[in-house]
Amino acid sequence: MESKISIFITCLVFAAAFQLLLPVSEASLKVGYYKSKCKKAESIVKSTVRSFIVKNPGLGAGLIRMFFHDCFVRGCDASVLLDPTPANPQPEKLSIPNNPSLRGFEVIDAVKAELEKQCPGVVSCADIIALSARDASLFLGNISYKIPTGRLDGRVSISAEALQILPAPSFNLSQLEASFASKGLSTAEMVALSGAHSIGRSHCSSFTSRLYPTIDPTMNQGFGSFLRKLCPQNAAVDGVVPQDFVSPNKLDEQYYKNVESLTALFFSDWSLLTSGATLNQVDTYTKVPGAFKADFANAMIKMGSINEALPGSPGEVRGPTCRAVN
Ligand code: HEM
Repeated sequence: MESKISIFITCLVFAAAFQLLLPVSEASLKVGYYKSKCKKAESIVKSTVRSFIVKNPGLGAGLIRMFFHDCFVRGCDASVLLDPTPANPQPEKLSIPNNPSLRGFEVIDAVKAELEKQCPGVVSCADIIALSARDASLFLGNISYKIPTGRLDGRVSISAEALQILPAPSFNLSQLEASFASKGLSTAEMVALSGAHSIGRSHCSSFTSRLYPTIDPTMNQGFGSFLRKLCPQNAAVDGVVPQDFVSPNKLDEQYYKNVESLTALFFSDWSLLTSGATLNQVDTYTKVPGAFKADFANAMIKMGSINEALPGSPGEVRGPTCRAVN
């Protein structure tokens, strides 16, 4: 009897310890978290994001990429939004993968300013990024999904971490798989999320290694010659080109068609053709209407659940600005 009791107590202790190890706010993330706290929160995000995207659809692409870059580094905690300070001169936003390419910061500023007017100190910047990316997916792709909220904002942002963690356009399939697996995302989710490369732009410097001195044999040679004209070797200015020349502002399956015709910009895009499973998935997205969009929505929700907050220091709701910790 005594040993049964001690086994029971041991189990309780393990269960309690396991609870402590769980990411702090995971349990509290829920769809409609702000309904009771700031009724208009989600509609304010939506109308503000819409007002920017109608003027410049590229900002919608920026917001979707911002969500990815935020969630991969220290979880979805808005660490990507923190400006440099004397105490922290090199935050994530100044890292090579983010600077100067990441855009949409002014949209987040505008959303936060509006929310602070209505409900000061209530809506976290991490949730603003997640909701903005969701709304950008709706406006650019007619992709609609509900995303749980209740994230907290982090207080730490380190440039070197972004460089180390974010996948590079030179990655092969196993490097991409390892990168996403380290964040709890499957290869299939990685393939679905890569469809975001059907919108927005890239700087020439992200792919010129595929153009010079010779055009990468994994790239369509005619496409390579065309890109060479847009991205001359040793140009004084780093130019930009659309990710998808066919429908640059539409979040859709065209990316997968580009991958198959070897007219996607990055080696990492081409890498999706290098295993049977990923090739099959790419092919399915080009053929089965709606398959990509459904998977993309689910993978965005999953990416939004990455939480690396340490037990005991869950974070804060930043205010009045998303650019500085409280
Ligand atoms: C699979 C690994 C990935 C790699 C190696 C990668 C790499 C890149 C690179 C190099 C650029 C161009 C940056 C520039 O030079 O301006 C870019 C753009 C972009 N990426 Fe990715 N990316 C990946 C996954 C993702 C994911 C998961 C998303 C979001 C779900 C995403 C969304 C975007 C968007 C929307 C753009 C265009 C941004 C704009 O127009 O401002 N990427 N990506």
